[in-house]
Amino acid sequence: MLKHLHLLFVAVVIILFVIRVFLAQYKPELLANKWLKIAPHALAGLLLLSGIALVFEGNWLSGEYGWIIAKLLGMFGFIALGLVTIRSQGDKRWYAFAGALLVLIYIIRVAFTKQAFFFL
Ligand code: HEM
Repeated sequence: MLKHLHLLFVAVVIILFVIRVFLAQYKPELLANKWLKIAPHALAGLLLLSGIALVFEGNWLSGEYGWIIAKLLGMFGFIALGLVTIRSQGDKRWYAFAGALLVLIYIIRVAFTKQAFFFL
């Protein structure tokens, strides 16, 4: 149940992020909308909270928990790159966007493998 909620927040955060990137590029005036300013922060907060709740529910700290730290740091990296994506322009925007998507892929692979260094 909690995991499904977590996955729902993951999906909504990703979809909303992609929509905002396209708005930033093609319809920047729409980004001034109050809801589009508040929703991403609220959803990122809920995603984080659901992740933390899952850590306790699954007692994940009692074992090897490097992957949880990796997900946390990854999430902060994703948020930072997301901010750069929305706020910058030109090439910089697309490099940051590509970086944000790569970090997302990393986080998702960490989520499934439960290993921060799954690629080694
Ligand atoms: C962008 C951020 C995040 C993404 C894309 C993401 C993605 C996922 C996915 C795909 C799963 C399902 C894995 C599976 O079914 O095996 C999952 C589960 C989980 N996530 Fe996240 N997550 C994110 C953030 C976080 C954060 C910040 C934490 C902890 C502070 C966290 C903790 C967990 C835990 C404990 C599980 C349950 C693992 C299990 O029961 O198998 N997640 N996450």
